[in-house]
Amino acid sequence: MSAPAVSTQTPSPYSEFVNPRWEEFLDLVGMNVRYERCLGAELFTRDGRRILDFLSGYCVHNTGHNHPAIVEALKDELDRCGPAMLQTDVPELAGELARRLCGLAGGGLSKAYFCSSGSEGVEATIKFCRAATGRTGLLYAEGGFHGLTCGALSLMSDPFWRNGFGPLLPGAESVPFGDLAALEEKLKTRRIAGFITEPIQSEAGMRIPPADYFPAAERLCKRYGTLLVLDEVQTGMFRTGPFLAAQHLATRPDMVILAKALSGGLIPSGAVLMTDEIYEAVYSSLQRAIVHTSTFSENGLAMRAGLATLDVLEQEGLGHRATAAGADLRRQLTEVLVPFEMLKEVRGIGLLCGIEFTAPRGLGLRVSFEAFRKIHPAMFGQCLVMRLFRDRGILTQICGNNFLVLKVAPPLNVSVEQVAEFVAGVRETAAFIHSSGGFWTEALQLVRRGIRI
Ligand SMILES: Cc1ncc(COP(=O)(O)O)c(C=O)c1O
Repeated sequence: MSAPAVSTQTPSPYSEFVNPRWEEFLDLVGMNVRYERCLGAELFTRDGRRILDFLSGYCVHNTGHNHPAIVEALKDELDRCGPAMLQTDVPELAGELARRLCGLAGGGLSKAYFCSSGSEGVEATIKFCRAATGRTGLLYAEGGFHGLTCGALSLMSDPFWRNGFGPLLPGAESVPFGDLAALEEKLKTRRIAGFITEPIQSEAGMRIPPADYFPAAERLCKRYGTLLVLDEVQTGMFRTGPFLAAQHLATRPDMVILAKALSGGLIPSGAVLMTDEIYEAVYSSLQRAIVHTSTFSENGLAMRAGLATLDVLEQEGLGHRATAAGADLRRQLTEVLVPFEMLKEVRGIGLLCGIEFTAPRGLGLRVSFEAFRKIHPAMFGQCLVMRLFRDRGILTQICGNNFLVLKVAPPLNVSVEQVAEFVAGVRETAAFIHSSGGFWTEALQLVRRGIRI
């Protein structure tokens, strides 16, 4: 298959006025295609290619691209010329969406604060934890991803994201994910307002905690007066099967952050679900009725997108589909990848999966692998992503904080045929990596072209 047409003879307006480095990077990895139409799990490019989306915009497109029911709801919302961003009314749709979200979450989560992104949700929980406990300390799990605003970034340990932006929030400390003893050590100080963590660490490489970790972490948090906040920005909205991953883990968090898929893939939206106690502590009087709010947070289009998204997820049984299709996908991937020495593990829950690769044992491959690693730790993974895209028409990415894990997260309505196509594409690419010098030499040529990734 030939390389896709790239479009960088003269700088595009995007390169000229937004982010030339990003366009340069996409050119480099052969992914700078122009998408024309996106439907379900399929993306169609202007030059006639069809790409299978197994990334879902990092779990934004749980309902698939441009789901007709969500598009219709948004058109209807615009057509009715209703109140939008008045800031002085009671947005009824926000009430309706909050009722549905709290009902699905259960576990004592009975109020919602709406926002427009995952990071904004994380920021809100930092403030709410502090207001509700009167403490300032924050605890997070190493390797997690929570967003790139200053507060959220303070909860991320990876220097790649932090360097050059300090100082960040004082009082933020980390513990290894899954380590109860380390957690208790920190909580014992009774300085910690909130323990904010993903239930399954997605960008860290699909790290699934031991089964007893969260129930025990919840008990420890209660014992020492710390609030447990689950960042379900990627794991929520039925991505792992149930509405929240917390429901898998038999855990009742004090707050949950949702975003990404709540948007229906179309209108930015996020939500923090919290207990009544936390709400009362923050919005504690009439004077404080809007003490934490945001201009766009309860806007009609976002609320309609959220409601229509829930309708689709529930009516099409996409949680069950995620469970069944995820198990099937992992079984098939394991079966076809086991013969390859660079496979470490296929893992995941529902349709949040990862394929972990490891250094090859055989000398031939090992020399090339180490050469790659010396150039850049992400080099192998990025070349794998590039090959899948270019040769097989499959869109994936490596995890942001673990470059040896390929993220596999298609829309929840992915078909059986699309799963089979993905598995075959990954198998063929793995075979190419293991049997031919082509994979390794091509990547080294990129470097010789003087391009640094
Ligand atoms: C788990 C998690 N939390 C928070 C965020 C931040 O969300 P946003 O990019 O909408 O600010 C992300 C983004 O990828 C995420 O994966």
